[in-house]
Amino acid sequence: MNRSTDDFAAAGIDPDERPLEEHQQPTPIRDESVRDLKPRVVRTHLSLFVRDPEAAAPWYEDVLGMEVTARGPQWVFLSFGKKHHDIALIRAEEGAVMSGIGLQHYGLEVDGSLDEWRRLYGMLLAKGVPVVKTTDHKVGFGLYFTDPDGNRFEFFHETVTDDEEGKRILGLYGAPSDPFEVEPLHS
Ligand SMILES: [Fe+2]
Repeated sequence: MNRSTDDFAAAGIDPDERPLEEHQQPTPIRDESVRDLKPRVVRTHLSLFVRDPEAAAPWYEDVLGMEVTARGPQWVFLSFGKKHHDIALIRAEEGAVMSGIGLQHYGLEVDGSLDEWRRLYGMLLAKGVPVVKTTDHKVGFGLYFTDPDGNRFEFFHETVTDDEEGKRILGLYGAPSDPFEVEPLHS
């Protein structure tokens, strides 16, 4: 589907961010030698559309303990403390709504004991953060919650720390996500 520049302007999309049209795509490489190259991913970051980055950022500072590292009129970058940014909040187009395709949740594997994870549960409740569910994944426990725009996050407490064993267990149990009754800790 081709959309004109006017279509994108009407939708509030920055012309620099729209996909290249077919005739603008880079020339395909015929040399086969790069076809098997695998990306060596060492770290990841996430960019999320939100209604208002400046309105959303304080939640990320307060609930996820992040710090703002850079900001512009349409975006705020936040870090967990080491990198220049781990999450970028980008202003969505006016009237944008969540749909069923795209990010389901972003898992944050947290350090500390199971009790610390239960305290994080207490912290979420103390701050009025909507909690979606707590689950047993057999390799760890998941605590799911949403940001003010409805983006879903997970605090993941790992119980199987050996990655090979983790893969084996996930396969054995079929990547389970069983309901897990757990009481939050408040102190
Ligand atoms: Fe997850």
